[in-house]
Amino acid sequence: MKAKVVIITGASAGIGKATAEHLMKKGFHVYGTSRKTTGNIDADTANDSQSGGFIRMITLDVTCEDSVKTAVESIISKEGHIDILVSNAGAGIAGSVEDVSLYEANLQFDVNFFGTLRMIKAVLPYMREKRYGKIIALSSVAGIISIPYQAHYSSSKFALEGLIEALRHEIAPFGIKACLIEPGDTKTDFTSSRVISKNAGEGSHYYVRFKKSLARMEKDEQSGASPFDVANTIYKMIKKKNPPVRVAVGFQYKLILFLKRILPTLVLEKVVEFLYS
Ligand SMILES: NC(=O)c1ccc[n+]([C@@H]2O[C@H](COP(=O)([O-])OP(=O)(O)OC[C@H]3O[C@@H](n4cnc5c(N)ncnc54)[C@H](OP(=O)(O)O)[C@@H]3O)[C@@H](O)[C@H]2O)c1
Repeated sequence: MKAKVVIITGASAGIGKATAEHLMKKGFHVYGTSRKTTGNIDADTANDSQSGGFIRMITLDVTCEDSVKTAVESIISKEGHIDILVSNAGAGIAGSVEDVSLYEANLQFDVNFFGTLRMIKAVLPYMREKRYGKIIALSSVAGIISIPYQAHYSSSKFALEGLIEALRHEIAPFGIKACLIEPGDTKTDFTSSRVISKNAGEGSHYYVRFKKSLARMEKDEQSGASPFDVANTIYKMIKKKNPPVRVAVGFQYKLILFLKRILPTLVLEKVVEFLYS
């Protein structure tokens, strides 16, 4: 059988890297992206002789439309098609709504929301032509339950949820499927890469509560799940003929999202307040 071609944004670390390795072992032709790589599209970064799969790292910045276009076209000229997009590249910014500047908020949306939108728009014409494709977007449990001092991160993931919900209807007639993956706390470089708002320092009216909330968030992430758990869920959704609109990773997060559906909002707010306020 012909190997499936997958592009994974943000494959230099964390969930993207784990997913690239997992899919390579399953025989996929993996094109992983990073802003920093000097990778050559003709040379394997890693390969698996048993499965025939490989990883090739290519340069891509999801905030730059030209960069997205160049990377996608280079894969098309090599492989002729892209079967799967895993839109994973993402980052977080922390700070209160009052402190985070509009400039910082824009940067957050540019990577997490518009980055995925740019990728989707770049791959869709090729998927439509083949009448086959899977789009897997990395959302978060924070894309369903908004977290204090992470409002812009949560909002960018809420927006992503809305995008994919609508997109699924539009692309179904072309044989293309889309799905959201919602990890909870996962032990990756995400914690150390998080940007702290310039205004969130000691001068902020929110400083004490913010610091406490951030410390809790960092501790939970660094004692969280392995990125390979998320990679495995992504693989399962790739294999599924009709993936559901959203899938949380791990029993506890499936339970939390179920409780969000059935609990009164007031109770849920008290739980979030207890954990993060
Ligand atoms: N870790 C968690 O607890 C957690 C929980 C829920 C959801 N998620 C989501 O999972 C996804 C992956 O996060 P992670 O935990 O694996 O984080 P990570 O370890 O920090 O990796 C982030 C990846 O995104 C890439 N990236 C960042 N900005 C980019 C840009 N402008 N253009 C292209 N690539 C960019 C980075 O690549 P380069 O720096 O090499 O370009 C890196 O490979 C994100 O969407 C995140 O929101 C994470």
